[in-house]
Amino acid sequence: MEENYTFGEVMITEEQIKKRAKEIGAEISNDFKGEKILAVGILKGAVLWMSDLIREITVDTQIDFMAVSSYGASTKSSGVVQIIKDLDTGIEDLNVIIVEDIIDSGITLHYLRDYLLGRKPKSLKICTLLDKPDRREADIKVDYTGFVIENKFIVGYGLDYNQLYRNIPYITCLEEVKTV
Ligand code: IMP
Ligand code: MG
Repeated sequence: MEENYTFGEVMITEEQIKKRAKEIGAEISNDFKGEKILAVGILKGAVLWMSDLIREITVDTQIDFMAVSSYGASTKSSGVVQIIKDLDTGIEDLNVIIVEDIIDSGITLHYLRDYLLGRKPKSLKICTLLDKPDRREADIKVDYTGFVIENKFIVGYGLDYNQLYRNIPYITCLEEVKTV
């Protein structure tokens, strides 16, 4: 643990997340009845949420991953989106669902959506575990949202601070320790 930070309260438990995965998985299965989908997880943060979600989807599902970087070793967005790992296969004529850990400024997903739409998928939807709408800078329509949260810096359940705390099995926040 970095010395000037501490964990805040537990904001969302593992049980709450699993319950939302079940609900959203059922919604997606219903929306895509008789169709095939490709779930695209955004590395690394979405890995835990993606694994919960896809196990609740009952229609034929393929998975793939992309890695993008819009943040350095800080809690502020640089606004620059870089593709570090692209999809392994084409998406033309596939129902694509981008699976993200959190939407903050919306800059990452705004960029990704346009990037993937350029490859002419049959449809493109966005599913996020967390949404911090107060921080939105780019206009983005989210189709499936796990939880809407207040403007705090979140860690756990895939989300990191300086690449740490992704393995915490619940959502908590980082709070600055005030030194006197
Ligand atoms: P956006 O482009 O500002 O929407 O940023 C999205 C990405 O920033 C997410 O996929 C996360 O990797 C990261 N991010 C945004 N807010 C947080 C947070 O509170 N904790 C950890 N990572 C965050
Ligand atoms: Mg991310």
